[in-house]
Amino acid sequence: MSTQEPARAGLLSIADLDRGAIESLLELTDSFAEVSARAIPRVPALRGKTVATMFFEASTRTRLSFETAAKRLSAETMTFTAASSSLAKGESLRDTAETLAAMGVDLMVVRHACAGAPAQVAQWVDASVVNAGDGRHEHPTQALLDCYTIREHLRAGGPDGFEGLRVLIVGDVDHSRVARSGVLALHALGAEVTLVGPGTLLPPSLEGWPAGVAYELDPLLGEADVVYLLRLQSERMHEALVPSLREYAACFGLDAGRAARMKKGAIVMHPGPINRGVEIAAAVADLPNCVVTDQVRNGVALRMAVLFRLLGAGND
Ligand code: CP
Repeated sequence: MSTQEPARAGLLSIADLDRGAIESLLELTDSFAEVSARAIPRVPALRGKTVATMFFEASTRTRLSFETAAKRLSAETMTFTAASSSLAKGESLRDTAETLAAMGVDLMVVRHACAGAPAQVAQWVDASVVNAGDGRHEHPTQALLDCYTIREHLRAGGPDGFEGLRVLIVGDVDHSRVARSGVLALHALGAEVTLVGPGTLLPPSLEGWPAGVAYELDPLLGEADVVYLLRLQSERMHEALVPSLREYAACFGLDAGRAARMKKGAIVMHPGPINRGVEIAAAVADLPNCVVTDQVRNGVALRMAVLFRLLGAGND
């Protein structure tokens, strides 16, 4: 496929989805959550399709979740592992993508340390491409599964819908693709988002971030419906941005005292992997209102919805 032809439908950025498209994916996820809860969690929806996971950066949740989602939809799966691939012999990203495409892949799930890499792959291959995290740019399926998890808990007793919902995203926002996609999705659904952290970990400009900013966590804890903690992403830091982990945890870590001051019914979220004792205390990670395992469980159903929307009947 030449670079002049339009790329096949994929999911590269939350910015490509409007409120209706997000809500529709969340509704479709309800159906696949029901499938996932069955004794035999499998439907023939994508029989004959092939989904390749192409991870050029480490992952546990996203890769396994996409592979599980594809298998539950009866798609064939192909796992590309960068460390044991011909990348080690100098093969380029383009040649790698075109090689997998030539094997008949219908959809590629791409994670890469470089922002824009999945979009670039989408220009090279005649397959759908889903961004599974590109540098500090975006992680759209993480944002969607987070919205689904918030919606699930709201229905269980919180405010009715996302309008007026207050969400704090705390910590290393500047390096976070999860935060960027999350802010876009939550804003599209009507939530009020505040980014909280030291100035060194917040974006230098709020252009493209429809959110407020705060430099202290404590004054906001009692008002928030969702406290979303981020990992310090040392792999994307080129200098020390906090004086010490101990000081960071003292100012922005969610310890038992802070968790006790949260609003009744508010939930704690984290995309994982978590650093117990830094952004979240071990005891808080195990509290019933910390919904990290719900996020992981919902990630499979949400990714089934995304794969079905892109490859299901009528999308050839
Ligand atoms: N949340 C997330 O992207 O986790 P992994 O890096 O384990 O995929």
